Amino acid sequence: MTKHTPHILVVEDDLQQREVIAHILTSEGFEVIAADSVEQAIVELKSQPIDLVFSDWKLGSLSGIDLLRYVKKQSPHIGFAMATAYGTIEHAVKAIEAGADDYLSKPFSRQALLLCIDKIDRARQLREQNRQLQGALGEQQQLVDLIGQAPCMQTLFTRLEKMSATDATVLILGESGTGKELAARALHKLSPRAEQPFIAINCGAIPATLAEAELFGAMKGAYTGADRDKQGKFQAASGGSLFLDEVGELPLELQTRLLRFLQEGTVTPLGSHQEVSVDVRVLAATHRNLEEMVTNGQFREDLYYRLNILPVTMPPLRERREDIPLLAKFFIQKSSNRYHRDPPAISKAGLKQLMEHSWPGNVRELANRIERFVLLEDETELVSQRSDNQSSSFSGFTFPAQGLDFDQLEKYLLTEALARSQGNRTAAAKLLNMNYKAFLYRLEKFGIC
Ligand SMILES: Nc1ncnc2c1ncn2[C@@H]1O[C@H](COP(=O)(O)OP(=O)(O)OP(=O)(O)O)[C@@H](O)[C@H]1O
Ligand SMILES: [Mg+2]
Repeated sequence: MTKHTPHILVVEDDLQQREVIAHILTSEGFEVIAADSVEQAIVELKSQPIDLVFSDWKLGSLSGIDLLRYVKKQSPHIGFAMATAYGTIEHAVKAIEAGADDYLSKPFSRQALLLCIDKIDRARQLREQNRQLQGALGEQQQLVDLIGQAPCMQTLFTRLEKMSATDATVLILGESGTGKELAARALHKLSPRAEQPFIAINCGAIPATLAEAELFGAMKGAYTGADRDKQGKFQAASGGSLFLDEVGELPLELQTRLLRFLQEGTVTPLGSHQEVSVDVRVLAATHRNLEEMVTNGQFREDLYYRLNILPVTMPPLRERREDIPLLAKFFIQKSSNRYHRDPPAISKAGLKQLMEHSWPGNVRELANRIERFVLLEDETELVSQRSDNQSSSFSGFTFPAQGLDFDQLEKYLLTEALARSQGNRTAAAKLLNMNYKAFLYRLEKFGIC
């Protein structure tokens, strides 16, 4: 491969200096493009590939820092050096802070110029190599605290990264134990709001009577026992993110208020007539099927559409089995640290069984089993089918206050299991931890073919 000749954009408003610099760099074999202003430099940057920029600080009404900011935003891979006037060290500091790879005080010698260019070219090459390496690895094993290298997790990480940069409401869907809360925390930590509060509230865990004050705040005397103003979670999350966990459990009346906030950005504390503006990003999660709840009149349709602007679905663990060894290793380490144990090894057979299990409780179930394995040093804890971890498999299921239609639920579970197994009945029966005959009998009972 022939070595690529770096293209350098020299930005200097003094004609004589510009020519001297261009001459030195051309005689060293660089391809030089010259510009006499920030505006001209931007035109050049847009019209051809540039590897390096060597820019003066003072450039008419604009300055080199304006150009630097543009370059960092548009083409962060470009190497950048700033020439600063003698004795203006604060300019050099500013340039480095803004992301320049180096600076050079004027007047400078030919040798100092070449050293500087060499330095920024190496910085550029390093960035390029890193970029290629990342592309070649093709996968990221972790996003904040979310672990996973399966392709579906890579897609998820990219999606979460993109979403984190915006202020839009995100709806996180997925079965219990798939990491919905971890995803919400990751969105916050990667966002420009990271330094501001992250407030989580479980909409299913607050009694309906207290929920309004809890979320929106209350004025002194608004209800019995309110002996002073109460700050709601929205106000507490001001500037940051509010995580509404189990948003499907939010009582209908509060759904209306949430919708109002999402539309207007305002909340009205209980007992007040004054609307207050709050700057809060809402992240919501549910393991329930909101669309179905809308059909059943349990969830406001308009709120559903508002929340569903950026949906993200956490894959169930059985759809990314290749991540099980990685997760198992992580939880063994975590539990061993927690209980001050030596990390126990898992046998091949143990790992195989972990890989084959259907994990109805997803990552939480895996974490619980590993914790027991570390504590009891008994591998059967990893794989025993005993009760199949009922507590975690049902932890995400909330019995509706108004009761439910058992036949409907059973039918739903059967069709859902079939859908998830792409119609494979053996796999669907396994998902329900049911023997095949019993499964067929139930299919017949409901006339599901
Ligand atoms: N991808 C992951 N990497 C590492 N740990 C995970 C991952 N997904 C989930 N966990 C762990 O599993 C447990 C459950 O995760 P989390 O609470 O985020 O799930 P959830 O989807 O909110 O569940 P639920 O619907 O039951 O509230 C936590 O201990 C979390 O740390
Ligand atoms: Mg949760």
